[in-house]
Amino acid sequence: MEIIDQAMAYVKERFEREYSGHDYFHTLRVFNMATRIAKAERADLELVQLAALLHDVDDRKISPETYEQQTNARSFLTAHGVDEATTEAICKMIREVSFAGNASVTPTTPEGKCVQDADRLDAIGAIGIARAFAYGGNHQRLMYHPDVKPNLNMSREEYVNSQSTTINHFYEKLFKLTAMMNTQTAIGIARAREAYMKEYVAEFLSEWDGKR
Ligand code: ADP
Ligand code: NI
Repeated sequence: MEIIDQAMAYVKERFEREYSGHDYFHTLRVFNMATRIAKAERADLELVQLAALLHDVDDRKISPETYEQQTNARSFLTAHGVDEATTEAICKMIREVSFAGNASVTPTTPEGKCVQDADRLDAIGAIGIARAFAYGGNHQRLMYHPDVKPNLNMSREEYVNSQSTTINHFYEKLFKLTAMMNTQTAIGIARAREAYMKEYVAEFLSEWDGKR
């Protein structure tokens, strides 16, 4: 589909100089995974693919000035002839994707569920581990501090302002994600990735103590 290729080219250019963990390849992985989930769940493929490709173009952290109005997603869709109702539906899906503390929402459509699951899956497993440490380095956080304990019940405010360590992030967010998946397809993938991360953190902590 032509509009999908155009959206792909648009995000490639949009995220060209973005290294925060929301780079072009994050979007591309979410697109591929959302496509896989949507096929298995028989969701509308075009809606899922457009929402996946555009899900970070108005992200609060990388585009605070367009975040409220979702200006980038809206302009792209309108400029490519998508009607108003469909544009609205895609923008709503994108708003429902984000996770922040315990304030996250369950998407109201099967298509939104596929995209949210794909975005969350990219935060776990081998790539999730790499993204977490990349984020930590970018935000001047310690990898680990034995005296700083995880806070498992953060509000949205606390989550956004948290100065926790990267290992704590596994407990505060990453290990919670399997239980928050919407689709059976994603639950299966998340289980395997979570097991891998738990093994990784156990290994990290035993090396830390000089046990291995
Ligand atoms: P999303 O892709 O849902 O917008 P975020 O912006 O919250 O996710 O995070 C982007 C990446 O950075 C994710 O892989 C996430 O796990 C990681 N990350 C977010 N907050 C932290 C943190 N406090 N410590 C380590 N990694 C983090
Ligand atoms: Ni994302």
